[in-house]
Amino acid sequence: MTQKLSKEFKQIRTSVFRKFKYDARQINVKDFGAGSKKLLPQRKVSSIFRNSSSTGKYAELLFQLSSFKCPKNILELGTSLGIGTMHLHYGCPEAAIYSIEGCPKTLEVAKENFIGDKSKVHFIQSDFHSFFKDLINKKYDLVFIDGHHDGKALISYLDLLRNYIYEETIIILDDIRWSDSMYESWKEIINNPKYHLTIDLFRMGIIALRPGQEKEHFIIKL
Ligand SMILES: C[S@@+](CC[C@H](N)C(=O)[O-])C[C@H]1O[C@@H](n2cnc3c(N)ncnc32)[C@H](O)[C@@H]1O
Repeated sequence: MTQKLSKEFKQIRTSVFRKFKYDARQINVKDFGAGSKKLLPQRKVSSIFRNSSSTGKYAELLFQLSSFKCPKNILELGTSLGIGTMHLHYGCPEAAIYSIEGCPKTLEVAKENFIGDKSKVHFIQSDFHSFFKDLINKKYDLVFIDGHHDGKALISYLDLLRNYIYEETIIILDDIRWSDSMYESWKEIINNPKYHLTIDLFRMGIIALRPGQEKEHFIIKL
């Protein structure tokens, strides 16, 4: 069942998008990931918005999954300007969100522009590996991996997540076809007997352990 975006959220989203679209400030971006196919280290906020943010139907999918699952804890690896964070937050405003970003300048802009319940959204500046080192006893119900688009890195983050997820955790992977290595890893994940549910949405992939069900793989065109 799909949940409609509230009028309030639509208005907030429009104003945030408009602000980012025309934000000509240049920031010096520290790249932790596989790099950008289009951007140099000195980047305009508007270019980051155009090239690195979740928008359109995939952003709405984040909203829908958050709303459907109504998770207690959400983990987002890769905040960028916080557009994905915003959709996850408005999908389920009660959820505690932990959004991790390596680049201090980018995170500053995300924090400055975030509109919502700030007591629920924790923006954390860290590289992903260090973040996992400091984690204690937390289980996430919904995880969005959207940074460091390299196949080997993706598999390593899934391994690191092992102790912080459970049977029903939904894990969303962005850009599964961004590069050959990402797509190879996606195929490895589909064939991994540990994941009983895998869904190929072309740009994104969804996975869950769900040991109680037969292994199933779906391909869905959004
Ligand atoms: C595609 S953007 C995230 C977009 C955002 N999730 C959204 O939905 O709008 C990826 C971000 O991940 C960050 N990142 C990539 N690899 C990282 C790493 N190893 N540690 C921390 N941050 C990383 C990058 O700096 C970049 O801002």
